[in-house]
Amino acid sequence: MSEEIVNTDMAKAWDGEEGGQWTQFADEYDDTNRSIWARFLATDPIGRADHVLDIGCGCGQSTRDAARLAPEGSALGVDLSSSMLAVARRRATAEGVPNVEFRRADAQVYPFDAGAFDIAISRFGVMFFADRMAAFANIAAALRPGGRLAMLVWQDIRKNEWIMTVREILVAGRDLPMPAAGVPGPMALADPEDVRGLLAGAGFESIGFTSLEEPVWFGADAEAAYQFVGEIGIVKGLSDGLDPDTKAAAHERLRASLRAHETPEGVRYASGVWLISATRSA
Ligand SMILES: C[S@@+](CC[C@H](N)C(=O)[O-])C[C@H]1O[C@@H](n2cnc3c(N)ncnc32)[C@H](O)[C@@H]1O
Repeated sequence: MSEEIVNTDMAKAWDGEEGGQWTQFADEYDDTNRSIWARFLATDPIGRADHVLDIGCGCGQSTRDAARLAPEGSALGVDLSSSMLAVARRRATAEGVPNVEFRRADAQVYPFDAGAFDIAISRFGVMFFADRMAAFANIAAALRPGGRLAMLVWQDIRKNEWIMTVREILVAGRDLPMPAAGVPGPMALADPEDVRGLLAGAGFESIGFTSLEEPVWFGADAEAAYQFVGEIGIVKGLSDGLDPDTKAAAHERLRASLRAHETPEGVRYASGVWLISATRSA
């Protein structure tokens, strides 16, 4: 059934509060990832006639860019979040991108036309599957034999100063588990050996990892950055369990950290991202 959603907890978050926040801050999220996305596009991944599948496309900047690069092909963006998809559709119309389509779908189980796509891309949208093997096998089946996979995912938390900093400040001395590789969430695909086995098992070969180390950008200055970062999921999630005084002190430390990261180019933190590439086995 095309509307089937099996990642129900993720759908609740992304089609609820988390998705609402990403919709509200759509421009900020695009700006945050600007340098990383530019590095992705610089690899020239998309051909003029390619049919592109964008997994977890969110507000759709990556899908629209893909469609523009494939004027004789097309781009389909799928996501769990109705509100983010509404932004994606509005922007595609406003920007006059005709060969793009957006669909609400759980990429783990959606019955894509078999072999219909030349390339599947994702910008941080493939880290939330409860059954990663099923999801990547489903994505492989959507690709033609020899079709490509090109996706951006976060590296280990220690390579991501921004997550480490936010976490350290907001954990505020509590004994909370670190986000781990292999578990649905931002670090799910952080471990290359684990991902190599996963993708090989799902029907991919020629699996490669390119390390991209670009700063993430949170705003023109610390105050603008706080208006955004203060609302992102990891900050709100970790803030929820704090008593009011501890929370206020932690947020003051967060503001101080943002001030300490102000540069002439805005508020920036170091990050490490994998560009994972693979080919669907014939
Ligand atoms: C971190 S956001 C990235 C959004 C967008 N790619 C961007 O770069 O702005 C992750 C996205 O993946 C989507 N997502 C998570 N699990 C999914 C699934 N099983 N099927 C489709 N989309 C999913 C979420 O709804 C969310 O929009």
